[in-house]
Amino acid sequence: MSEASPLILLFGHSGQLGWELRRTLATLGEVATAGVDGADHYLDLTDGAALDVLVHDLRPALMVNATAYTAVDKAETEEKLAYRINAEVVGEMGRLGAEMDIPVLHFSTDYVFSGVADRPWKENDEPAPRSIYGKSKLAGEQALFASRAEHLILRTAWVYGARGRNFLLTMQRLFAEKDRLKVVADQFGAPTWSRFIAEAASQVLAQCKTPQGQFRFGRHDGQVFHLTAAGQASWHEFAQAILEQTAEDCVLDPISTEQYPTPAARPAYSVLDNDNLAAAFGVRLPHWRRGLALCLEEMRDAGA
Ligand SMILES: NC(=O)c1ccc[n+]([C@@H]2O[C@H](COP(=O)([O-])OP(=O)(O)OC[C@H]3O[C@@H](n4cnc5c(N)ncnc54)[C@H](OP(=O)(O)O)[C@@H]3O)[C@@H](O)[C@H]2O)c1
Repeated sequence: MSEASPLILLFGHSGQLGWELRRTLATLGEVATAGVDGADHYLDLTDGAALDVLVHDLRPALMVNATAYTAVDKAETEEKLAYRINAEVVGEMGRLGAEMDIPVLHFSTDYVFSGVADRPWKENDEPAPRSIYGKSKLAGEQALFASRAEHLILRTAWVYGARGRNFLLTMQRLFAEKDRLKVVADQFGAPTWSRFIAEAASQVLAQCKTPQGQFRFGRHDGQVFHLTAAGQASWHEFAQAILEQTAEDCVLDPISTEQYPTPAARPAYSVLDNDNLAAAFGVRLPHWRRGLALCLEEMRDAGA
């Protein structure tokens, strides 16, 4: 392989974001996927030794971690597994990155914040997660930082896309099944298309690639950046916007979080401030309504 085509090891290729990253990263190097189903390299992350062996074998120029335990409610009863995937594994990637001088790009979540705020959250605001999922993701951020591996963390939110388990696909299914739905109207965030996250992440990485085909984060090493769509919505507004672009008839009744109890507590307000990413890399995602329109257009085109 030439120096200009470095090996990028992608974890989580089958997830919403990983599926998109597999495509967008392809312009930056040779992408090798590691995971359970349909990966270039079989890897079950619950097996600690396997990660070590694989990274030593491949010696990639960059690790991109799009894996996560993302079942927010189930995490309340599967704490051990959530911490394993969201925290321990990230620490192990960091240890390997530090030992072998491999930078790590990692993703985190708006759920590291409490949700009590009157303005969008900035990167250096105090995290105070309310759920096991949020706590385990924060522990992952901290483990990567402590590892001293060269790294960047991109926190995103309310991810949806044409694949995987997400709010958009759930709503589309429910609109076809039901005439009336209750949707939470007092939690606010920024619905973000997985495609845009992957494209923005790849634009960031392109700026970190040296002519020798290495990835160097330079003065941004160890930094966290927020990366979400512009604007904000409640789940009810998001559902209404999806409905407006669907042929189905359905009435959406706004309800409060209290009226829809879930095992995991969610932040009431987790809109993130994206200014730092724009200042550092000149990358800013469009308004969430624009992302939704483009995603739905593509899904219609594909006959989905
Ligand atoms: N989803 C959201 O709304 C949201 C919001 C904020 C931040 N984020 C963050 O964005 C990133 C991407 O999330 P996503 O929505 O794309 O996640 P996702 O669709 O749930 O995908 C998670 C990925 O992790 C893999 N994985 C889980 N357990 C594994 C194991 N034991 N061994 C190997 N692979 C394993 C999954 O593989 P399998 O397909 O084989 O299970 C899948 O490829 C994560 O860091 C997440 O925390 C997501």
